[in-house]
Amino acid sequence: MPAVIQAENLTRYFGSLKAVDGLTFAVEAGEVFGMLGPNGAGKTTTVRLINGLLAPSSGTIRALGLDPLAQGDRVRAQTGVLTETPSLYERLSARDNLLLFGKLYHVPKDKLAARVDAMLAELGLSERANDKAGGYSKGMKQRLAIARALLHEPQILFLDEPTAGLDPEAARHVTELIEQLSTERGRTVMLCTHNLTEAQRLCDRVAVMNQGRALALGTPAQLAHELWRSIWVDIELRTPPPDALFTNLRGVAGVKEVKLDKLTLAVQVDAEDAIPHTVAQVAALGGQIMRVNPRQHSLEEIYFELQKQNR
Ligand SMILES: Nc1ncnc2c1ncn2[C@@H]1O[C@H](COP(=O)(O)OP(=O)(O)OP(=O)(O)O)[C@@H](O)[C@H]1O
Ligand SMILES: [Mg+2]
Repeated sequence: MPAVIQAENLTRYFGSLKAVDGLTFAVEAGEVFGMLGPNGAGKTTTVRLINGLLAPSSGTIRALGLDPLAQGDRVRAQTGVLTETPSLYERLSARDNLLLFGKLYHVPKDKLAARVDAMLAELGLSERANDKAGGYSKGMKQRLAIARALLHEPQILFLDEPTAGLDPEAARHVTELIEQLSTERGRTVMLCTHNLTEAQRLCDRVAVMNQGRALALGTPAQLAHELWRSIWVDIELRTPPPDALFTNLRGVAGVKEVKLDKLTLAVQVDAEDAIPHTVAQVAALGGQIMRVNPRQHSLEEIYFELQKQNR
């Protein structure tokens, strides 16, 4: 997979404050890449650097192989950005806002009107399409800004807190829309969010940031393994296991700990590849297995563990 975004030692100061501190990462085509981290961690600054809205203090950044500062127009023609505080033309209707941005982004004339209507419908704004954007509620403005970011069918989408301020139904709809853009249309999405459930659902990989640095970067499973170096597997049994099973199981390669709670045997193994032979041993030792469940660490657990270690 080719990298569509590539940062090498990316650093940005504001005065003496290091907002982004030596970030190195690559985002591959078609993936949903999440940037997580507390307020002021440097997420938005990173997005602005990638889009050529800010110059790096040092390090390099490439988007679609281009330099976003020198070739900003070419980058922005292929990227859609939902900023933290989207600015819309308040005195224009939602439809006219989109028509105007469509022209700016060179959406073909013969396709523009239909695409604007489709986006308005997609974001649930058709009925209010002719109302002035200035009279929109916060969530409606957010939806209009999302429609604007998607209008020119960009290859890469930058979504800074896309569901902030949306009602639960609209938030779910936007989450599904992002999922669909990624899986069905192969778009690359960079998502900044404080909503860890949303991130868990959408992101292939995440960077967990703090004070401009990436504390960790990878798939949630990779991060969990780096943090805990083990996996707990719950093995539900039909009948109480024979006593010998415990002592024997503790001697199996890769097994670190064994516990029994009622009919559930909890086995801690040091890696995923220890699970099959551990389960086979449980069966061989007389365990009547009904179900095997490796415990997944949630992104929320991972996030808090990383932030805790960083304190
Ligand atoms: N234009 C600016 N001028 C001065 N300082 C800035 C500017 N933009 C960002 N900063 C500082 O850089 C740091 C990172 O800010 P940034 O907006 O990237 O954080 P963030 O991770 O997006 O946070 P949030 O979750 O609150 O959106 C903060 O300390 C912020 O005050
Ligand atoms: Mg931000």
